[in-house]
Amino acid sequence: MLDLSQMHEFTGPIKADLDQFNTKLNDYLQGDSPLITSIARHLLKSRGKRIRPAFLFLSSRASNTYDEHSVDTSLAIELIHTATLLHDDVVDESELRRGHQTVNAQWTNLISVLMGDYLFAKAFRIMVEADSLELMRAVSRATERVAVGELRQIEETGNYDLSEEEYVSIIADKTASLFSVSCEAGPILKRHQPKQRARFADFGEKVGTAFQMADDLLDFVGDAEVTGKEPGNDVMTGKVTLPLIYSLKKAGKAGRREITKHLRDRDDGSFDKIYRFVAETGGIDYTYRRANELSRRGLEAISNVSQSVYFERLRDMVSFTTSRAS
Ligand code: IPE
Ligand code: IPE
Ligand code: MG
Ligand code: MG
Repeated sequence: MLDLSQMHEFTGPIKADLDQFNTKLNDYLQGDSPLITSIARHLLKSRGKRIRPAFLFLSSRASNTYDEHSVDTSLAIELIHTATLLHDDVVDESELRRGHQTVNAQWTNLISVLMGDYLFAKAFRIMVEADSLELMRAVSRATERVAVGELRQIEETGNYDLSEEEYVSIIADKTASLFSVSCEAGPILKRHQPKQRARFADFGEKVGTAFQMADDLLDFVGDAEVTGKEPGNDVMTGKVTLPLIYSLKKAGKAGRREITKHLRDRDDGSFDKIYRFVAETGGIDYTYRRANELSRRGLEAISNVSQSVYFERLRDMVSFTTSRAS
């Protein structure tokens, strides 16, 4: 498994872009009220991986479409991502995020939702400055897809008959959408030929889907010290993800009945039993394989891009996406 220090190596060539991103993020989050200031401080202290900005900068530089608005675009997307996490932690009743208490746990659900709304609004205000209707269209559509994916996931909570296709379509909406728009942002800003834009969008869509598969794996095999999130949260809130979908399909009738009972009861020992079942029936291995295959196909989509250090690091980031420990 790859750790964050390896990701920092891969983002070496875009360090200056990420530094600018961090400085501007600090400025943008200087609060409009004491409450906003203290939550913003909490969010800045418990920082995320910044993986979407990394994909945006590397994709833009690799496709020669880096633009004066690239930093603001990455900020808007990261703020939208953060807003969706503030909402998601309320939905999932999570208490731990990035190794710290979630905003809903430290403050309240209400505050977490409203702070999320504030970040959405801020993101769209920043977007307007880029003065590209096409970019606004793409970012708005991606944000809409996140909400659709989260709502569909709620609809499917506890549906242990969920198919792999339905699962993939949900995670593509809720997660791949923001990766996809990050990767196509450069070609959009530079009004690059539509083909190049479509290739980068496709690349981001596939890698983003693989990224969520890896996240769903970490919910089974991750170490809370490293991921900064509680493992087992998906199973314990009735969320049905690929490792489980595969294993339930593989299991015989009796095995399936027994595991479904644990999935519904969700008592103290349930997660351990379910984890063992998924590991033994190949759900973990299968999900790794699927994620790797999708990443490979993602890279195929941009195989026409000329060689450069940015392109090389973009490929490294793709392997980080599926092999990461956090
Ligand atoms: C978490 O995303 C939510 C998912 C889409 C799985 P990240 O893993 O990128 O979260 P941070 O920003 O690094 O905390
Ligand atoms: C991703 O799903 C959440 C969003 C797209 C907002 P998860 O619920 O799996 O994300 P984590 O595990 O809480 O970070
Ligand atoms: Mg969650
Ligand atoms: Mg998760």
